[in-house]
Amino acid sequence: MTDSTPADPIPDSPAFPDVAAIDTVTCVGAGTIGGGWAAYFLAQGFRVKIWDPAPDAGDKFTRLLDAAWPAMAELDMVEGADRTAWSIHTDLAEAITGTGFVQESAPEDLALKRGLLAQIDGLCPPNIVISSSTSGYSMTEMATEAAHPERLVVGHPFNPPYLIPLVEVVGGQSTSAAAVDWAADFFTHIGKSVIRMDREVPGFIANRLQEAQWREALHMVAQGEATVEQIDRSITDGPGLRWPFQGPMLTFHLAGGEGGMAHMLDHFGPSLKSPWTRLSAPELSQQLRDDVVAGCDIEAGERSIADLVAHRDAGIIALRRLTTQLAATAVPARPQSASTPTTVSESQLNTYSTEAAPEWIDYNGHMSEAYYVLVFGFATDQVMDQLGLDAGYRESQKASLYTVESHIRYLDEAALGDRLTVVPHLVSAGDKKLHFAYEMFVGDRLVSTEEIMALHVDQTTDRVVPFPDTVADRISQITTERPDWVGRSIG
Ligand SMILES: NC(=O)c1ccc[n+]([C@@H]2O[C@H](COP(=O)([O-])OP(=O)(O)OC[C@H]3O[C@@H](n4cnc5c(N)ncnc54)[C@H](O)[C@@H]3O)[C@@H](O)[C@H]2O)c1
Repeated sequence: MTDSTPADPIPDSPAFPDVAAIDTVTCVGAGTIGGGWAAYFLAQGFRVKIWDPAPDAGDKFTRLLDAAWPAMAELDMVEGADRTAWSIHTDLAEAITGTGFVQESAPEDLALKRGLLAQIDGLCPPNIVISSSTSGYSMTEMATEAAHPERLVVGHPFNPPYLIPLVEVVGGQSTSAAAVDWAADFFTHIGKSVIRMDREVPGFIANRLQEAQWREALHMVAQGEATVEQIDRSITDGPGLRWPFQGPMLTFHLAGGEGGMAHMLDHFGPSLKSPWTRLSAPELSQQLRDDVVAGCDIEAGERSIADLVAHRDAGIIALRRLTTQLAATAVPARPQSASTPTTVSESQLNTYSTEAAPEWIDYNGHMSEAYYVLVFGFATDQVMDQLGLDAGYRESQKASLYTVESHIRYLDEAALGDRLTVVPHLVSAGDKKLHFAYEMFVGDRLVSTEEIMALHVDQTTDRVVPFPDTVADRISQITTERPDWVGRSIG
């Protein structure tokens, strides 16, 4: 054999099954990703056969499915599907029998993947496509021990595979184009957003982009250039708000104003030489410039810059509304200081303190009024804990404090990162009710006050009932105080 001898041709692929005719799939490995795949396949109406050597794999998958199924149901992805149509097997051959497709999601270990793919390959009829979830290995390096590498592909998902649509599909040097096409068709058929790559690149596309940012972020922390929180917020409150609608290319197409990407590159091209990242830039040749400009034009299609701006802005508006709404309704991140209240004395209610969070800030750059209520609510939680009306009490006694009236005064603004300190006062106490007055400070600035009237309610009867002696004793130890602003609106 000489150097000029062409490589062996890739064998013709046998006829792969019709993607629409497949009713059974196999998941080899059922951890975070394999389990996520299995959940997605179930929602797509497949019978799913699982093989995973971990003794508790079935229990783990059950827990994963318990979380994944309602999430998919929220997106109307499970209609008509049977979430019980899965089986777990101790024998790999049994898990593969009768399957129409195999997705391998074993640990990211090259030797393991090589041996496992060869084992699956040996058990599977050669017209069945076998796909690997690998995060970064090429199929060329993974398929070295397989007898039929022509049907081995990478089908790289993103976590969680049951919610994130993207799958990057690419073959190795020995994979037939027909197998890559088939895998791309199959994933498209089951509702995935498929990128069919023509050549193998370590880390594929999305992981390379993620990794570049990740490494720069680690450098910045290591060099003391940014904190972890600053890095996260720089994305979630910055470019991250645009990326769901336009990727980095179209985003910069719009950064060029009416001149689009052409103006952007001509204007900011020289910045590629600036030390704005540790990743060195390619030479911005005329060819590269023209390719990027042409790519943006193709991607934009009939949409003008104005159309794209309108689309982006509509998306950002929707997203900002959503994040505000989620922040208000989701279990709020428990403010860091909640568990370490400042105790003034046994006879006073503990001061509550927290920091104004990014999602509490409105379009004017100030804390929205709803979040003043939230912060006062956290202060009330802390007061309840101090008085013995804590979670244990509520659970065992089926009784709690109910706010029946409140009055807030918004006196001054609070900004992102401001430390908010709430000083609670017990104005008066009855055997079934408590009257509180809260003062919220930023430094020594009084920014808000709230008065609350709360009743002690038996949740089983929905009736107002006296505090038990233990709680009444604690309340009696608290000195009552009446700030001079109290009683202006409620009493
Ligand atoms: N976690 C992610 O965000 C992510 C994203 C995309 C791709 N991936 C890739 O998916 C694959 C699985 O990663 P993961 O995060 O689910 O890992 P994981 O550790 O959560 O799950 C791996 C599973 O494989 C099982 N396993 C162990 N040895 C096995 C073997 N010889 N054969 C079959 N199964 C075996 C384990 O019991 C476990 O259940 C890896 O290749 C990883 O690079 C991970």
